[in-house]
Amino acid sequence: MIVTTSDLFRVAYGKFAVGAYNINNMEQALGLFEGHRRANAPFIVQISRGARKYAGVVMLEAIIRAAEQMYPEAIFAVHLDHGDEQTCYDCIESGFYSSVMIDASHYPFEENIAITRRVVERAHAAGVSVEAELGMLGGVEEDIAVDEKHAKLTDPDEAKEFVERTGCDSLAVAIGTSHGAYKFKGEAKLHLDRVAAIQQRLPGFPLVMHGSSSVPAEEVRRINAAGGALDPSAKGVNEDDFAKAIPLGVTKVNIDTDGRLVWTRVHREYFRDHPEVFDFRKPGKVFIDEYAKFIQHKSRKLLSYGQLDAVRAALSG
Ligand code: G3H
Ligand code: 13P
Ligand code: ZN
Repeated sequence: MIVTTSDLFRVAYGKFAVGAYNINNMEQALGLFEGHRRANAPFIVQISRGARKYAGVVMLEAIIRAAEQMYPEAIFAVHLDHGDEQTCYDCIESGFYSSVMIDASHYPFEENIAITRRVVERAHAAGVSVEAELGMLGGVEEDIAVDEKHAKLTDPDEAKEFVERTGCDSLAVAIGTSHGAYKFKGEAKLHLDRVAAIQQRLPGFPLVMHGSSSVPAEEVRRINAAGGALDPSAKGVNEDDFAKAIPLGVTKVNIDTDGRLVWTRVHREYFRDHPEVFDFRKPGKVFIDEYAKFIQHKSRKLLSYGQLDAVRAALSG
């Protein structure tokens, strides 16, 4: 069943975070739905503009609708990740997306507010939830690269004003993470004090953590041992920090890079160990199962494991 992110956040706030995973193909979708079936957890399927270009909007919708039929017990939101204004409108009008992210964080404050406000009006008229972003994460997303010195943590006073003036349903906050595999030089540092200050000004309001992959060192090691050339200094978020961020209002945690690492590890190892194979379904099967196990693991860290029944009860009550 497709629900809005707001539906999920009402149940999750303060107790658990809903994992939001980017998908681009059928194998990811099957692993995602299977992993959440095993974990008995709600989730968010995220689609980036890059994914829409890669697979095509019709194909992505068909894949997700097929997965929904195969997993009728699943409760999830379909969310546009890092949308621009026009793509938000396309998704709202499609009738398929239950949630969009308008990312105007690279515009000045007043312009970000004006753009977000316009998207909120159109989205809410169609029953679609809106995530907005304030502050600037480091790293690369879509076609925008932000170097470390231009990354900017979210200002708590601005966050309050932004939410009040835009009417958005959740807010992506910059708290020291960045997209991709190279988030931290040295120690992984999340600014949880900043999250607490934002929560103080916006009690009960759902916050979103982007750039939340943990980039496990063992995954990087295995990829490199199987012919990869990732920088071994790659470093992500400490997964145990999710449990600290959840009571501070973080209800959505975005994970893409870690799933890409699972895919790369499985396929590199498979073809290294089976050089005679050219039936891609063989590593594909391994990937779906490994991705499902990865989802189970993440659900434990996000405390969403086993929360599906609570979500179902809240939705029907
Ligand atoms: O924030 C970016 C997400 O990881 C999506 O990546 O734009 O390459 O699909 P993508
Ligand atoms: P990662 O690159 O850490 O997986 O972040 C994904 C993300 O924030 C998607 O919006
Ligand atoms: Zn992001």
